[in-house]
Amino acid sequence: MSGSNASSSAKDVVFQIVVSIVGLVLFGVLIAKLVNSGTHVDLGATTMSNEAVAARLKPVGVVKVVDGGPPGSRSGKAVFEAVCISCHGTGLAGSPKFGDAGAWAPRIAKGFETLWGHAIKGFNAMPAKGGSPDLTDDEVKRAVAYMGNAGGGKFTEPPVQGGAAGGAIDPATKGKEVWEGTCQACHATGAAGAPKIGNKADWAPRLKDGADAAIAIGMKGLNAMPPKGGYTGSDAEFKAAALYMIGQSK
Ligand code: HEC
Ligand code: HEC
Repeated sequence: MSGSNASSSAKDVVFQIVVSIVGLVLFGVLIAKLVNSGTHVDLGATTMSNEAVAARLKPVGVVKVVDGGPPGSRSGKAVFEAVCISCHGTGLAGSPKFGDAGAWAPRIAKGFETLWGHAIKGFNAMPAKGGSPDLTDDEVKRAVAYMGNAGGGKFTEPPVQGGAAGGAIDPATKGKEVWEGTCQACHATGAAGAPKIGNKADWAPRLKDGADAAIAIGMKGLNAMPPKGGYTGSDAEFKAAALYMIGQSK
């Protein structure tokens, strides 16, 4: 859809800005080093401090969109790849570089709690939540565990609520898959009088008693809606598909 195209081209632009800034900074540092080694003039005052570099990068971090699931459910890897990588991928601004056991050992020695405390609140040139305030605390903790473990740590990522615990099935992933496999045959177009996905007017009257009530009706079947829409998998998977559809239609 056009919305997602726009956001992905916005991400392209953000990416290009990040690349240009990183390029400029590296270039500046290089020149300063060259001049320094030749003339013994201290150019320390003109090279950017780590704090200045981080401050420049910060607004870029803030507009970043984190992919990989609804807020709160993103894995450490997804958060790292969307946010933390912009500094920790290369060791920018003095950050401990991803996968560099030597850089991470003294950090890991501080203990998991201190590390995620610093990552959430900020620490010197490390901006709070890496500059992405939309991250939940657990998502930051997962990213810390993911990075720490890649650097030789043995941290446990806080589980995703309901997911890893074995209970609920994630509507955004499994629910979407079931919806595409079964429900879209009718609900994508409104065939046979089905309430169309994304059509608030179709859904509002059905949701007046809450999503659970509508899902219970769909489970039993109603007129041209066969029980579970003809889906042969588990009730929990049907529910996830319905939640996915309802989530798109409110
Ligand atoms: C704008 C650059 C930047 C981004 C983005 C960034 N960091 Fe950092 N991070 C740093 C810097 C610089 C340090 C080193 C700070 C110091 O030791 O003075 C650091 C240090 C850390 C530390 C070690 C803290 C300690 O107590 O030693 C952790 C943990 C950390 N970052 C986690 C994260 C996580 C998780 C993310 C993504 C959500 C992230 N960082 C994103 C720059 C960044
Ligand atoms: C063969 C076509 C068809 C398929 C496939 C189908 N549905 Fe439906 N669905 C309908 C129709 C038609 C209605 C409206 C029934 C009515 O109100 O008469 C409906 C209604 C619903 C409702 C609203 C019930 C209410 O409270 O009014 C839910 C929830 C629902 N479907 C979920 C699903 C899910 C989830 C799937 C896939 C697993 C699915 N449907 C697959 C045709 C279908």
